[in-house]
Amino acid sequence: MQSLENMRQQEKERLSKCLVYKCVRCGNDFQSGLVVAQDIKNLGDNKNYCPTGCYDEYQTERRVKYYSENAEKILFEHNFPKRFLMWDKETLNPKMKKVLDDLDPAGFFLCGKTGSGKTCLSVVFAKELTKTQKNIYFQNVPELLFEIKGTFDQENKVFNDYGLICKWAEKPYLILDDLGAEKVTEYVRQSLYTLINKRYLDNLPTFITSNLSLDEISARLDDRIASRIFEMCGQPINLGSEDLRLKKHGGKQ
Ligand SMILES: Nc1ncnc2c1ncn2[C@@H]1O[C@H](COP(=O)(O)OP(=O)(O)OP(=O)(O)O)[C@@H](O)[C@H]1O
Ligand SMILES: [Mg+2]
Ligand SMILES: [Zn+2]
Repeated sequence: MQSLENMRQQEKERLSKCLVYKCVRCGNDFQSGLVVAQDIKNLGDNKNYCPTGCYDEYQTERRVKYYSENAEKILFEHNFPKRFLMWDKETLNPKMKKVLDDLDPAGFFLCGKTGSGKTCLSVVFAKELTKTQKNIYFQNVPELLFEIKGTFDQENKVFNDYGLICKWAEKPYLILDDLGAEKVTEYVRQSLYTLINKRYLDNLPTFITSNLSLDEISARLDDRIASRIFEMCGQPINLGSEDLRLKKHGGKQ
């Protein structure tokens, strides 16, 4: 049996061979022998971080910085329309800014006549949400249905669109733009129901823009779709009937 003194001596020798690291954040020293090797957070260039605390804080700061500095790039990669990417909270008029501030990050249903600013406002909302490190995606509904139609297998007379629906159903945050603008067929009804119901069942925040009211969606599409939207998105927010496109270009209202 080893004597205690012997063990102490061995431990001392072991530690003397260990490298001492200095945390670049808090300045504390720590030794490779005292922490599990893979816990030492070395980012190269002698940038060592305390394995718990300092490294986690550093990663959080990096994430916050990345999302706030790259919001437009992230939105572009998440299928957002280029046209509105440069719009910011600060560029909105006070009335729209107030609507933006009241939008619920758990879900909303934005309606209003054509040109009332629904898509634009939803993009600005997404930019703000992205700055808080949330992954939000954009999909125009008529375009999605067009893609779905493209999956039709002539030979077997079936749509192979389940993967496509799941792709959007699983996004952590999703804007569905222009719901109700599509031509309604039984298949459209079923696809939209599947997509919305999946998100509804998984409690995933969903943001919808439409030219239709919820009553019109109920009548035109399906009351089961409208009912789920109401529960997920709350009371509809109506942007009104002023066409900002016409206004901008001096057209008549
Ligand atoms: N808050 C705003 N202030 C001033 N102009 C705006 C604002 N929001 C949008 N606009 C202008 O109005 C135009 C229409 O906006 P947007 O496309 O968002 O409307 P929409 O309600 O989505 O229309 P549609 O129903 O046809 O899709 C934009 O091109 C933009 O220039
Ligand atoms: Mg729009
Ligand atoms: Zn530290």
